[in-house]
Amino acid sequence: MQSRYFTINDHPQGTPARELFELHETELPTLSDGEVRVRNLWLSVDPYMRGRMSGVTTYIDPFELNAPLEGAAVGEIIESHDPAFPVGTKVRHMAGWRDIAQLPGNQLEPLPHFDVPDQAYLGVLGMPGMTAWSGLNRIADMQEGDNVLVSGGAGAVGSLAVQLAKAKGGTVVGIAGSQEKLDWLESKGVKAVSYKGKNAAQLTEALNEACPEGFDVYYENVGGICLEAALNNLKVGARIAVCGMIARYNEDTPSAGPSNLAMILIRRARMEGFIVFDHWAHYPDFLEEVGPQIEGGQVDYEETVEEGLERTPDAFLKLFEGANRGKMLVKL
Ligand SMILES: NC(=O)c1ccc[n+]([C@@H]2O[C@H](COP(=O)([O-])OP(=O)(O)OC[C@H]3O[C@@H](n4cnc5c(N)ncnc54)[C@H](OP(=O)(O)O)[C@@H]3O)[C@@H](O)[C@H]2O)c1
Repeated sequence: MQSRYFTINDHPQGTPARELFELHETELPTLSDGEVRVRNLWLSVDPYMRGRMSGVTTYIDPFELNAPLEGAAVGEIIESHDPAFPVGTKVRHMAGWRDIAQLPGNQLEPLPHFDVPDQAYLGVLGMPGMTAWSGLNRIADMQEGDNVLVSGGAGAVGSLAVQLAKAKGGTVVGIAGSQEKLDWLESKGVKAVSYKGKNAAQLTEALNEACPEGFDVYYENVGGICLEAALNNLKVGARIAVCGMIARYNEDTPSAGPSNLAMILIRRARMEGFIVFDHWAHYPDFLEEVGPQIEGGQVDYEETVEEGLERTPDAFLKLFEGANRGKMLVKL
């Protein structure tokens, strides 16, 4: 059986070019004991993959050049030498960026049993959703009535973060980059602020207008001027959960940090970075709380879908153009 998969041929500087990605085809070896073959149905592309393309070990190993790329995927088992995973079982695993995956059964997770589409386990009920929940609850220690600011507020992580925050009662403000996203935020009762065309001072002013009392919690997905403007709008005792800094991922040379880091001192604030995998033992708690709300429709989620394996690099690159609302996915 053939498998088609993507590789990268270089460590990109700046925004990756489409030519970085190469599609290959290979004949899969005979299945060993304990191995399965999975026909991938949905692939996830995520901003963190940009870091893995840089050839540097961070909290995770870099992608190897000219080797199959990895990423979360959901698929169906089509051949099995592992009795725990019979043919027909739907699973989640990390052998994405390809159509047919061959891997040991101990690298598979069965899908949880909510009445949701399979691909929700790559988005709102998968890693990005778990990230939103962990950052708000386990890092920022969000309390009832807190005023919460979320940058990247209409993305995969941000769109759940704003809704979970909104359900706890305070003023919630989302920063996003397009009118469509701002409209979506407003439709959820979230005050929406655009960062496009603004400098840090103008964004500071816009956030102050949206929430003059200031924020108890800042959920950081973006960095750059969003961080600077957020620091200027903190309440005393604020908590900042540093989830991501996508504005920096394609920088050739690192830009200067925020000029107003002293606001952490002035507002006696706490700023803490986190990686969702360190919190994975709490995934069942997250599912128990959020799963029924997704099933019941109390919490909404959006998806942006590219069709066909060939479009995987395009889907990935679109994350950095802000082309996705909610989770960016590839449907095979
Ligand atoms: N710590 C963890 O464990 C963890 C786990 C998952 C994700 N993350 C981080 O969380 C953040 C959101 O991830 P996600 O999967 O939910 O992605 P996402 O928000 O669905 O997609 C990326 C969004 O970022 C915005 N963006 C892209 N380039 C930007 C720039 N230069 N300046 C400002 N905004 C930019 C765009 O939205 P606009 O149109 O609004 O600009 C784009 O749609 C990322 O920083 C990611 O690395 C961290």
